[in-house]
Amino acid sequence: MPVSYKSLGLVNTRDMFAKAVKGGYAIPAYNFNNMEQMQAIVQACTESASPVILQVSSGARKYANQTLLQYMAQGAVEYGKELGKGKNIPITLHLDHGDTYELCVNCIESGFSSVMIDGSHHSYEDNVALTRKVVEYAHKHDVTVEGELGVLAGVEDDVKAEKHTYTEPDEVEDFVKKTGCDSLAISIGTSHGAYKFKPGQKAEIRLDILKEIERRIPGFPIVLHGSSSVPQDLVKKINQFGGKLADAVGISETQLREASKSAVCKINIDSDGRLAMTAAIREVLYTKPDEFDPRKYLGPARDALKALYKHKNDNVLGSSGHAFD
Ligand code: G3H
Ligand code: 13P
Ligand code: ZN
Repeated sequence: MPVSYKSLGLVNTRDMFAKAVKGGYAIPAYNFNNMEQMQAIVQACTESASPVILQVSSGARKYANQTLLQYMAQGAVEYGKELGKGKNIPITLHLDHGDTYELCVNCIESGFSSVMIDGSHHSYEDNVALTRKVVEYAHKHDVTVEGELGVLAGVEDDVKAEKHTYTEPDEVEDFVKKTGCDSLAISIGTSHGAYKFKPGQKAEIRLDILKEIERRIPGFPIVLHGSSSVPQDLVKKINQFGGKLADAVGISETQLREASKSAVCKINIDSDGRLAMTAAIREVLYTKPDEFDPRKYLGPARDALKALYKHKNDNVLGSSGHAFD
């Protein structure tokens, strides 16, 4: 039986993005695969009074089971109400990197309030056609759609790109008009994973391309994927407690803060959360080798994740305090 996101207490991104673009901040889009990540996201965003997008990738669906994720998202709304004592933050359930029409339909039927159709690996014409088809279905259900133009370097599930293909500003207006999408993910030098820049490479994203894109589609909601900053204290901690992460470098938080003041209204962060959890778990297992209760290492991992997300909301995205705008 299809379920509408509205009956789960979730919201789509339309209102959130309009307010974020106007207010000069970005909505955090944090990936989740398990209960601890979901708890950390809802706790952090409730405490910082930030709207939030809970993201589910195809990998998360395979790992955690689609049905469980749907109930966890519903649980996130109820948990948010409990934590917020009646003042609950807006929560979106979003499909991250949907690659087929069928997957998007399936997610919409199981309670997602927003989907990404990532046609960026297809030709421009095929990307337009696929995105348009998803938008037509999604909008009938008041679900919002994120499209993508340009290819990010790095790994996304089964898709791997060696190099960036920056978004071509000349294409954005036509793409948005033809597809009717609600937001657009662009490629300006961010990339997925913890190894975003090679040693010796200038670790900068192309804010000049972003500016040009904004000139072509003023006020249209822009999304940045691959926006982890790979905090060096976390990398150090992981390596101190037996890990091996050489040359892991991310996006500057200052550049992300700059981007979020413009039409960038959604910033995707996953890898930093993975690093925060791993550092905390490694520390416990390394310093207390006799520990075997999962709560004793997953608990600190959840706390570290929560602290990281509060920091992102406060200092990088600027979304804190905007939940009830
Ligand atoms: O875009 C990639 C996200 O970090 C999700 O990663 O596909 O390994 O779940 P995943
Ligand atoms: P990071 O790997 O930089 O965290 O990016 C996550 C992402 O873009 C999810 O779609
Ligand atoms: Zn992504």
